[in-house]
Amino acid sequence: MELTDKIIKLKKEKKAILLAHNYQRPEIQEIADYVGDSIELSRKAVNEKEAEIIVFSAVDFMAESAAILNPEKKVLLPSPGARCPMAQMLTVDEIKKWKALYPLVPVVLYVNTLAAAKAYCDVCCTSANAVEIIEALNAETVLFGPDHNLAEYAQEKTGKTVLPIPEWGFCPTHLLFQPEDAQALKTQHPEAVLMVHPECNAEMRRMADFVGSTSQMCRYAKESSAKKFIVATEEGLLHRLRKENPGKEFILAYEDAVCPNMKLNTLERIYLALKEEKHVVTVPEPVARQARKALEKMFELTAK
Ligand code: 13P
Ligand code: SF4
Repeated sequence: MELTDKIIKLKKEKKAILLAHNYQRPEIQEIADYVGDSIELSRKAVNEKEAEIIVFSAVDFMAESAAILNPEKKVLLPSPGARCPMAQMLTVDEIKKWKALYPLVPVVLYVNTLAAAKAYCDVCCTSANAVEIIEALNAETVLFGPDHNLAEYAQEKTGKTVLPIPEWGFCPTHLLFQPEDAQALKTQHPEAVLMVHPECNAEMRRMADFVGSTSQMCRYAKESSAKKFIVATEEGLLHRLRKENPGKEFILAYEDAVCPNMKLNTLERIYLALKEEKHVVTVPEPVARQARKALEKMFELTAK
């Protein structure tokens, strides 16, 4: 029996669902029950009442969020080594340091953080709703971490003061997108629309025709009358973009834009994790309780 068939069979037997982020390998996206961006996957994890096991094919912080929101379910991360380096950039000590400097200022944390960090914030956000969440807060200044590019983007969009914590946090994969490469592609394909993830630098965002999360890019590409798109985000999204838009062309804005952490998940690892019910993601309840409040506050403040 093929590995994909074995996974599908096991999923049924064990009442498991497979959630996959838009950056996952094509063969994983093809057998997933749901493929989406971080906010969609978090919502899906909450709404999947029937499932007893969630196999979360993504990176640590996404699986942790699912475990926090579903304490009664078993959440499996197929490759325990799939850890987002940006999430490691914000420690609890760093948050405490900034909170001591700005005691009255709310702390908004990108979901790309560890559960222990989330426990120290007022509300979480994703790249799809950071602007909306900050706008909804009754504060003119917020502390925001760990991505300084997303902080800067939110500041531009809201007109509020968004202080990045740490001041330098970044995604190593989105750092690869540089304006000179994008400009060369725009010159070569003048009719193409440029879509940029907000984790990219300011020059990239200013050149963009559209800035948004991975799933927002999918919606934009579907609704747009354009036939050609230059895409500045991890290469995994191109599988979904091409599948959903057969008549349109998608060009990656930097050839080697791969998140090696996301790519640690493979069909083999999904199969073994599910078969042996191993690599269970757990978050100690005192931390989970606090982090859950910040995630639930995000759901309360946003439609996106
Ligand atoms: P999205 O929420 O846009 O899918 O982004 C997640 C992520 O890790 C981006 O690097
Ligand atoms: Fe983290 Fe960047 Fe990979 Fe997303 S693409 S998981 S932010 S390293």
